[in-house]
Amino acid sequence: MEVRIFNNADEIAQAAADIFTNLIRAKPACVLGLATGASPVETYRELIKRCKKGVISFKDVKTFNLDEYCDLPRDDENSYYTFMHKNLFDSVDLPAGSSHLLDGNAADPEKEAAGYEKLIELAGGIDIQLLGIGRNGHIGFNEPSDKFTEHTYKVKLTESTIEANKKYFDDGKMPHYALTMGISTIMQAKIVPIATGSEKADAIGAAVLGPVSPSCPASVLHEHKDAVMLVDKAAAAKL
Ligand code: PGA
Repeated sequence: MEVRIFNNADEIAQAAADIFTNLIRAKPACVLGLATGASPVETYRELIKRCKKGVISFKDVKTFNLDEYCDLPRDDENSYYTFMHKNLFDSVDLPAGSSHLLDGNAADPEKEAAGYEKLIELAGGIDIQLLGIGRNGHIGFNEPSDKFTEHTYKVKLTESTIEANKKYFDDGKMPHYALTMGISTIMQAKIVPIATGSEKADAIGAAVLGPVSPSCPASVLHEHKDAVMLVDKAAAAKL
């Protein structure tokens, strides 16, 4: 995996946006894997700017998001559906039917997960997956565990993740389950992991240096042949 170290989140956003800009210009009908959380917000802001200037267009692009909370209405302010609309989709020329998010309220999560995998396959696979990394090393919502996951599935979130994300929710309202792409799903794409801040340093260390262990899911990236990690100096402190 290639690792690029930057001074700040703005420089990371420029570099990530450059990677996506090059892809979209070379392959207008590409398939993007998208992420939520704090890490990608500035990258999306930069992509919006470039779209408004006419540098890129999303009109033939398809997108698939990594994950979505369960038991949260789609239009809740904290759903990833709302996040993506607010931070990217509503401000670019991506056609309404071209963005895909898992339905965290599906009556049959297994069927929802299998259908999502099928949609990714029918789209020809994800060209580039933008990826945040949790402070506990989770990728998507694949939490530390005793085995690596494969395809999209329903997961129970760990205390660490609930602790990290509960600030966004009113007391006690943070969902405890999510649907997420599995590790194998994620690993099929070219991956652009991004991270800032010292609380990510352990996970970034494991992702770059190994050892590969499901106790730190990000460590699987160590084996990825086509990944470009973009981090700031604080996140790179253990390298
Ligand atoms: P963050 O989350 O970008 O909000 O730090 C990353 C993640 O938990 O995957």
